[in-house]
Amino acid sequence: MNNNEHGDVMQKIVSLAKRRGFIFPGSEIYGGLAGTYDYGPLGEMMRQNVMASWRDKFIKSRRDMYAVSAAILMNQKVWQATGHVDHFSDPLVECKKCKKRFRADQLPVPPPEGKCPECKGEFGEVRQFNMMLETKLGAVLDSSSTSYLRPETAQGIFVNFKNVVDSMQPKIPFGIAQIGKAFRNEITPRDFIFRLRELEQMEIEYFVHPDDWERHFEYWKDEMMEWMASIGLDMNKIHDVEIPDGERAHYSSRTIDFEFEYPFGQKELYGLAYRGDYDLSRHASSSGEKLEYRFQDEGGVQTFVPHVIEPTFGLDRTILALLVSAYREDGEGDDSRVYLALDPKIAPHKICVSPLLKNKPELVAKGEEVFAHLKAEFLDVVWDDNGNIGKRYRRQDEIGTPFCVVVDFDTLEKDDSVSIRHRDDGSQERVKIADLLEYFAQKFA
Ligand code: GAP
Repeated sequence: MNNNEHGDVMQKIVSLAKRRGFIFPGSEIYGGLAGTYDYGPLGEMMRQNVMASWRDKFIKSRRDMYAVSAAILMNQKVWQATGHVDHFSDPLVECKKCKKRFRADQLPVPPPEGKCPECKGEFGEVRQFNMMLETKLGAVLDSSSTSYLRPETAQGIFVNFKNVVDSMQPKIPFGIAQIGKAFRNEITPRDFIFRLRELEQMEIEYFVHPDDWERHFEYWKDEMMEWMASIGLDMNKIHDVEIPDGERAHYSSRTIDFEFEYPFGQKELYGLAYRGDYDLSRHASSSGEKLEYRFQDEGGVQTFVPHVIEPTFGLDRTILALLVSAYREDGEGDDSRVYLALDPKIAPHKICVSPLLKNKPELVAKGEEVFAHLKAEFLDVVWDDNGNIGKRYRRQDEIGTPFCVVVDFDTLEKDDSVSIRHRDDGSQERVKIADLLEYFAQKFA
């Protein structure tokens, strides 16, 4: 594909996402708000499915993981202690002529040589721009009322380390996980839901003995890859990239970025960082609390500050990478179609049920019966009786519904079987209604 075709695919995905109720521009009726998007009915179902799969794999199926849901607003001392107030910044330049602002490291030719890509004007000095979104709490507006919308969910985990250890008495190694909103005042939000100002993260802080971190780092790399493949990300488009000294976040002494080939270039999807004891030690010295792990062995009570491996996942980038992985076009002329080859556990609807004709009450009644039967078991089942059957298939293909069940005259007159049409190759088969639950249970296993 050339650059135009890549841009074309991106435009098609953005347009499909809006037209079919996946993702809308934020505050659209007021002209939008840069860096914000709203998830519509189908996008929200997809988001919930991704989060459920993440929770199943990393929390529910394990014995060593504890979930928390911390407040977004935190004491400003949290962000002073971690260095975010001083270091969580990007290099900003402003054009002296048109006053537009850019991230210096994202310009094709950065200053001092480069000129403004909009008006060819001269740039001013590069300065560091802090990306934390500041807010004021309470009625008295002085420096003590300053708070920040958290820029990462991780700190909600670190400040609760002692609470979780005291209340749950976990055996090391163990992890604390959290899904939640984070906020960044990005200088140039762009590329649809890739770079947002309000985003959702799914993060794990995994606490290990300091001597053991390398083994756990490799283990988490494999676990992350296994989950990516399980939700249907195109693994040929994923590359793990070692981030060199000098380019890592201020808290990390080893980082791997998992980059994805988006239509606009290969960029970060997820990260895996070795944070050492950076956060616990900073919070311990800043708060005066002991943030340690204690255990008893033959030598008596041992105490140490655990080190941390952090697998971090952006939910919005996951949705974008899934849409890019799943987007397909095939056929020509009247036979052309667009479909999303989404994994059934991620697709907003798993099954669509239709009567062949909507004006035949006996087909509709039987269809409703089949619908209720499947809906009671699988939940993500939708009813569609609009237009002719060909149009319904196209509509469901476009939103990634893997199976369409159709009740027709053979259902009523012959053997109580329905037709099941498969999204990816358009093939059809007949299955008895009595066997449907088992049939789909196997498909979704
Ligand atoms: N706690 C570590 C941390 O926050 P990060 O690499 O800054 O690390 C983690 O962010 C993940 O959050 C990224 O890998 C990406 O998936 C997502 N993310 C970061 N900034 C984002 C933005 N502006 N818009 C959408 N997702 C973003």
